[in-house]
Amino acid sequence: MNKPVIVALDVDNQKQLTEILDSLGKPQNVTIKIGMELFFNSGASLVKDLAAKGYSIFLDLKLHDIPNTVYNAAKQLASLGITYTTVHALGGSKMIKAAKDGLIAGTSANHNVPKLLAVTELTSISDEVLKNEQSCALPMKQQVLSLAKLAKNSGADGVICSPLEVSDLRQEIGDDFLYVTPGIRPNHTASDDQARVATPAQAKKFGASAIVVGRPITLASNPQNAYETIKKEFN
Ligand code: C5P
Repeated sequence: MNKPVIVALDVDNQKQLTEILDSLGKPQNVTIKIGMELFFNSGASLVKDLAAKGYSIFLDLKLHDIPNTVYNAAKQLASLGITYTTVHALGGSKMIKAAKDGLIAGTSANHNVPKLLAVTELTSISDEVLKNEQSCALPMKQQVLSLAKLAKNSGADGVICSPLEVSDLRQEIGDDFLYVTPGIRPNHTASDDQARVATPAQAKKFGASAIVVGRPITLASNPQNAYETIKKEFN
């Protein structure tokens, strides 16, 4: 994937946003992830503005609703100039297909259709939570594989999973699919609310197509240093 260290801008105000963006360098060289926090604060106009500045944008709203609603939502998102967006694979095959169709329908001529990534199990979900709260009979690796196969067969371009699952998924599903991994923690940083974590170098070794990194950059005492170090480690 092009520009594979994706910075999660999980902030809720313009001042913090500007400070982080300034530390990342030229927009053309950077992929940023806009999640619910920033999108619900600043909306579609911010996404359009940042896309116009040259940033590649991963809009992570994790859609999960009935197929018709997701189709129409995805159609709207496709008009914002984004490169990637997300749905929950747990929404099922019809919903994933509807998201893909909505993205295609909403993309204007001469533009690329945004890539659709399906979230398998959130990287904050532990084996215990999968078993006891989601009542899932499968172990984590099997559950993630099952959701990833569903996503692939339903037209998604890739999945979001833990770095710990990538090598198995690549073996089963192949290289013609994107494996994007949050849950990245460089050595000596806290894991926060993440449960299935790895370092940037481990994620690379396991075969991640791209990594999503938030707090290890945005909360670092020197975000620019943190970003450059993580890029070096992953690339
Ligand atoms: O701060 P941190 O590096 O943990 O941020 C990870 C980012 O990746 C967050 O924005 C979170 O929403 C997102 N994410 C995740 N696990 C997933 C899907 C997305 O942590 N399965």
